[in-house]
Amino acid sequence: MSQDFSFTVHATDGTARKGEIFTPRGTIRTPAFMPVGTAATVKAMFPQDVRATGADILLGNVYHLMLRPGAERIARLGGLHDFMRWPFPILTDSGGFQVMSLAKLRKLDESGVTFQSHIDGSKHHLSPERSMEIQHLLGSDIQMQFDECVRLPCSDDEAERAMRLSLRWAERSRKAFRQQPGRAVFGIVQGGASKPLRIESAKALAGMDFHGLAVGGLAVGEPQEVMLDMLETTLPHLPASKPRYLMGVGTPDDIVQAVARGVDMFDCVMPTRAGRHGLAYTPFGKVNLKNARYAEDLSPLDADSTCPAARDYSRAYLHHLVKAGEILGMMLLTQANLAYYQSLMAGLRAAIGDGRLTDFIAETRAQWAAGEA
Ligand code: GUN
Repeated sequence: MSQDFSFTVHATDGTARKGEIFTPRGTIRTPAFMPVGTAATVKAMFPQDVRATGADILLGNVYHLMLRPGAERIARLGGLHDFMRWPFPILTDSGGFQVMSLAKLRKLDESGVTFQSHIDGSKHHLSPERSMEIQHLLGSDIQMQFDECVRLPCSDDEAERAMRLSLRWAERSRKAFRQQPGRAVFGIVQGGASKPLRIESAKALAGMDFHGLAVGGLAVGEPQEVMLDMLETTLPHLPASKPRYLMGVGTPDDIVQAVARGVDMFDCVMPTRAGRHGLAYTPFGKVNLKNARYAEDLSPLDADSTCPAARDYSRAYLHHLVKAGEILGMMLLTQANLAYYQSLMAGLRAAIGDGRLTDFIAETRAQWAAGEA
């Protein structure tokens, strides 16, 4: 396989695209869903089982790994892939977003962010340069620029300040990125819920020689309608030849809607976190296994699934495991949810390839609605 990072679009259907990202560690079929492996583990899953659900790539986090066990330590131990026994591609998020949601006593200035660890209160500094150095030490295949994401709703002044800071940090991140064969760095569009700010951010980043572009600052408290409106505004200004990644999204319906508008990559804690809390995503919509209606239900989550967790265990058994707080309940539901998300992505890819995305989306949504009734 080539030692370069590259992206090929194989088919389009309206604004939706089906393609492949090639990296020396493996090919990523797009539209792709990346399970979240924050602390060098997809919680409650063996790496080989994550792979078996159909994942081509995982997401890791600078913020968590720099605090524990430390980026230099992971580098000494051979890098993140060997450490966690996942030899396939890994994308790492740059840390700013997690500092803002998790750390204590944050102070942001032009240089970066100073913060206290949520684990032990120790003081740390993250800058575009340090974030890129950490992503290099981890051995990340796709590295993200350091950015500032504001919660919505926020004033346009605040969105503009953060967007402009993120553009300056994009330039510094691009410069600090250490080009190695097959490694890539992505810029991140910001701009809150303002169309002119989003367009300005997208145009500036499009001219900066990134390998791919992400849309950040969405799914942060706004209605789905606003998120889709921002995507429709932003995506036409990003180069069609580069992968587009919608960060931190989302529900199955968010993903389907964003794919239709031209997004190629997603990550979200939803399938894994919901699985640990007794909630399953299925072709028939969401199933809350805590509900007493499943106590004597011998049907599996999805008899047609290729995933053992979704196919071979009764809802009654899953209900019992969840009610009893058993670890196996979390393991099975995480696996079933990741398998469902991956089968949804496979369905989207096939539908785009066949030019029947609109019908696929209508059928998928009808099946969710029928199951949840
Ligand atoms: N994850 C979800 N949204 C964002 C964002 O805007 N920036 C970064 N770096 N990560 C995110």
